Amino acid sequence: MGWIFNHAIDGGQADFDEPIEDLTPRDRARLYAYANQKTHVDELIHAFGKLLADVGAVQNATVIDIGCGPFTGGLALANQVGVHFPYRYFGIDRAHSMLAFGRELADELFVRGVMHPETVVSFHTHLDNVDFGLRRAAEATIFVLSFLLASSTINVEDLVAEMVRACDRAALGRVIVLYTNAAGPTARRNFAPFKAAMEKTGFAMHIEAIEQFEDTEKPRPIHYALFVRQPITLSIAEF
Ligand SMILES: C[S@@+](CC[C@H](N)C(=O)[O-])C[C@H]1O[C@@H](n2cnc3c(N)ncnc32)[C@H](O)[C@@H]1O
Repeated sequence: MGWIFNHAIDGGQADFDEPIEDLTPRDRARLYAYANQKTHVDELIHAFGKLLADVGAVQNATVIDIGCGPFTGGLALANQVGVHFPYRYFGIDRAHSMLAFGRELADELFVRGVMHPETVVSFHTHLDNVDFGLRRAAEATIFVLSFLLASSTINVEDLVAEMVRACDRAALGRVIVLYTNAAGPTARRNFAPFKAAMEKTGFAMHIEAIEQFEDTEKPRPIHYALFVRQPITLSIAEF
């Protein structure tokens, strides 16, 4: 397990499209799922339970899981929402191997009948390239950032700017950002600049907590937060 964590998946920060030694990109994505993903799914389920007071907010929502890995946010959300509501899920990750394995896991959920049949799941390498269709006003847009800010490849200002551009294309309604990460100082080093960049663009932080919960194989403290941007009002002329 130590070799998998430190070497094969580089603590979750590997370039998962690069083969190393006798491991293919597909092997590395699967080893990530084996070593890290289950704990992340458990932690996200816990965080969603705390952060999404009203699971009905997910109904018809646009869910954007940035740095989604193999459908991690999607698996946790499916656990919370199940067949009750449809929504559209956009998984974004730079690694094709992660997206390919995520696609397999998502397809399996539909085969097992645990997703609403009208839920739509798609995967993309770049958020800027996603076509959201017509902007939606009544439904929420929900961003999931699970263990993304620990990545050294992430520039916080660029990330927030990309999220704002996505909101401009997708949403006039309420925007909710669910953030989870490890609680250690290294993993959290990007949180303060992230929060500052979010607040500069009209998001307010509603919840922030570090909490240990036990309902997982590897209990450890997690850091989670909720940001909300209220619906936008357009002038008649702009409309
Ligand atoms: C620690 S993993 C977290 C995966 C998933 N969110 C989870 O909680 O299991 C970080 C993920 O972010 C992806 N990633 C890293 N830098 C990225 C970037 N600049 N843009 C998109 N994805 C990125 C990696 O490929 C990897 O899948």
